[in-house]
Amino acid sequence: MKLQNKVAVITGGNSGIGLGIAEEFKAEGASGVISGRDTKTLNEAENKLSPSFIAVQSDVTSMSDLEKLYQKTTERFGKIDILVANAGIARLQPVDQVDEDTYDLQFDINVKGIFFTIQKALPHLKDGASVIVMASTAGHKGFQGASIYCATKAAVRSFARTFSAELLPRKIRVNAISPGFIETPAYYKFGLPEDMVPQAIEGFKKLTPLDRSGTVNEIGRVAVFLASEDSSFMLGEEVVVDGGMITL
Ligand code: NAI
Repeated sequence: MKLQNKVAVITGGNSGIGLGIAEEFKAEGASGVISGRDTKTLNEAENKLSPSFIAVQSDVTSMSDLEKLYQKTTERFGKIDILVANAGIARLQPVDQVDEDTYDLQFDINVKGIFFTIQKALPHLKDGASVIVMASTAGHKGFQGASIYCATKAAVRSFARTFSAELLPRKIRVNAISPGFIETPAYYKFGLPEDMVPQAIEGFKKLTPLDRSGTVNEIGRVAVFLASEDSSFMLGEEVVVDGGMITL
């Protein structure tokens, strides 16, 4: 068990990749808190992860919600060893159709949300903690219709470097995971007409040399590596987990 006695907070742990990470953390002996916005999926995820993890409703764009998240975590578990700043969204729109609200929404959740998820955790994180931010291969490629999302993920990747540099005195390591195509409920929230989603999913599969989507547990196992002592000499780094999409 690589995460025995470790306490983790995973934002967006009620769905998709965040839930996959929570499942793998639980299997490795960790406990802690998953957060998200939707009560129904939070309850379902909490039932799955019980008794190791509890769910706390918390929006990453709300400073008071973030403070509540960490207060509840430390009240219940006494410390935080691992933080996974995972919550994020994507909306697809061609450049000439991007509207201001959709621009702000993606930057608010994906960039501002991740920044303050980490900043507000700092007083509660143990020295030597591992922080993981969820970036994306979208930060590497020019995906059509995703100019804003891609830019947010490039910013997230940058946070891994700067936070690692600033937190050196506390030996807090911040690393990024950049998944490729992982089939999750996110694909149904892109803003595409519902009947176009299967076609979009096929398109993403074709971009992947392994010719399939990745699973949330394949990302979860990489998160276990970055959260554990196995990656003790890694900081400010990015691990790309994409079935060869970027490199081959
Ligand atoms: P998902 O839609 O299944 O999960 C996203 C989670 O974020 C949900 O639990 C949702 O409740 C939470 N969330 C969204 N806005 C929030 C807010 N304001 N406050 C708190 N929680 C909020 O999506 P998925 O695919 O699991 O995405 C997770 C992360 O992985 C995102 O950052 C996404 O950009 C990233 N990613 C996903 C890829 C994929 O192919 N699915 C590829 C690369 C990166």
